[in-house]
Amino acid sequence: MDIKTVKISDFSQHVDQQIKIKGWLYNSRAGGKVQFLVLRDGSAMCQAILEKKEGNEDIFGQVKHLGQESSIIATGTVRADDRSMGGFELAIDDVEIVHETNDYPITPKQHGVEFLMKNRHLHLRSKKQWAIARIRHTIINSIRSYFNDNEFILVDTPIFSPSVGEEEQTLFNVDYFGENVALSQTGQLYLEAAALSHGKAYCFGPTFRAEKSKTRRHLTEFWMVEPEVAFIDLEGIMDLGQGLIHTIISNCLKDRRDELEILERDISKLEAALKPFVHLSYSEAVELLHSEKAKNHLENKLAQKNTRIEELKDNIEQYNTDATNAKKQWQKDKAAQQIQTANEEIAELQKEVENIPHHMELAKNFKWGKDLGGSDESIISELHDQPVFVHRYPREVKAFYMKPDPENPDVVLNIDCLAPEGYGEIIGGSMREEDYNALIQRIENKGFDPENYKWYLDLRKYGSVPHGGFGLGVERTVAWVTGIKHIRETIAYPRMMGKVYP
Ligand code: 4AD
Ligand code: MG
Repeated sequence: MDIKTVKISDFSQHVDQQIKIKGWLYNSRAGGKVQFLVLRDGSAMCQAILEKKEGNEDIFGQVKHLGQESSIIATGTVRADDRSMGGFELAIDDVEIVHETNDYPITPKQHGVEFLMKNRHLHLRSKKQWAIARIRHTIINSIRSYFNDNEFILVDTPIFSPSVGEEEQTLFNVDYFGENVALSQTGQLYLEAAALSHGKAYCFGPTFRAEKSKTRRHLTEFWMVEPEVAFIDLEGIMDLGQGLIHTIISNCLKDRRDELEILERDISKLEAALKPFVHLSYSEAVELLHSEKAKNHLENKLAQKNTRIEELKDNIEQYNTDATNAKKQWQKDKAAQQIQTANEEIAELQKEVENIPHHMELAKNFKWGKDLGGSDESIISELHDQPVFVHRYPREVKAFYMKPDPENPDVVLNIDCLAPEGYGEIIGGSMREEDYNALIQRIENKGFDPENYKWYLDLRKYGSVPHGGFGLGVERTVAWVTGIKHIRETIAYPRMMGKVYP
């Protein structure tokens, strides 16, 4: 009788049955009579036990020499076992070796970031990266279903763009058969045309910005979803953004519990974001930056980071003792790994500790009229448990297409949505200038050539209506939901300054 192949994630339906799994050896620990294996098949991981019995000495010996990431087909019986990973264990009867590997470069010991990024094509198999990719998948799926369910029409916008979409400084230029064009920074301008055709439209694709600084929030190639709606107002845009983020969070909490647990994500922080978001005008945000509350917050943060550094130093001493006393090699390896992780965290914390006084100064001296910087955004978001919509920024620091507030033309009808826990801006959006003459003025003031925007200006000539929308950056959203510090881990192959391999 053929033995059925099942997914590890479906083990609960196959308890006490003999089944097959097809996958890879993630980790192993071998004794003379029994081997403890960790297997993965893409759907999940499981513990497996291979005992030496009469008749299986050959296979026992072969498996013992298998390196990490060898591919195998294992036959065995699923046992319920509370102590095991996922609550089940595979008691192995037989192993078919598909491909033997003996020098997999990424070992369970800790590697530096540079090394892992160079081996990104392999790094993607590791547990954390696997979990992040699956959460990203659910986020993207939620985005699509949210707009589809709300009767938005998907319109794909071009990547080769003849005009500036957001800002000139970050354009990637391309030689387009002798003509100089840019890679798209946004689909928005094209999408405005789509909104006047469909009422509600969205685009979802990669966008490009030549960000010349290396930060943990910036990629040069990132994915953005952009909805655009005719006859909407600023409140409506905020409601749409909040609805989108609520959908993303509740789907992740529903379908990605295991992955969030692997990443040790504090779920309560995500649950808090299911409440209504905070609304602050830019002017109120500036007041907050100047407040005692902000100052105290930063002082507390500084103290907390220093305490944590001391704690980690104590831990390292303990790990060193552990390593000295260890009898087994794997115990020494484990201690070495813990020391490296702790040292990396200390280095990270020390950088933050150095920066905090500077961020304090920036907040204290923040002048109305400037754009909020990364550290200002962090302070505002850290002072709230819910995402914050900051609205009505000074007109001078924002894009040419944003509509001034009729009640105060110094500011525009725009929003930035700041994610909690210091993750910063994940949504940027606005009402668009719908008046032909006012828009030409804005284009000229920015020094752009109105000729290049002729088609865009047409939208203000033929049936112009109040309209607006926003863009949500997928990678920043993934960073926040997963609790990952650096954006480079939120996409399979990150593109940043100095990084285009693999
Ligand atoms: O605020 P931005 O620049 O807005 C626009 O592009 C508008 N045209 C959107 C619209 O109204 N249709 O970018 C929107 C979002 C940001 O909030 C951020 O999440 C993300 O895109 N983003 C980046 N993500 C990663 N790396 C970068 N360099 C990013 N720049 C923007
Ligand atoms: Mg923005």
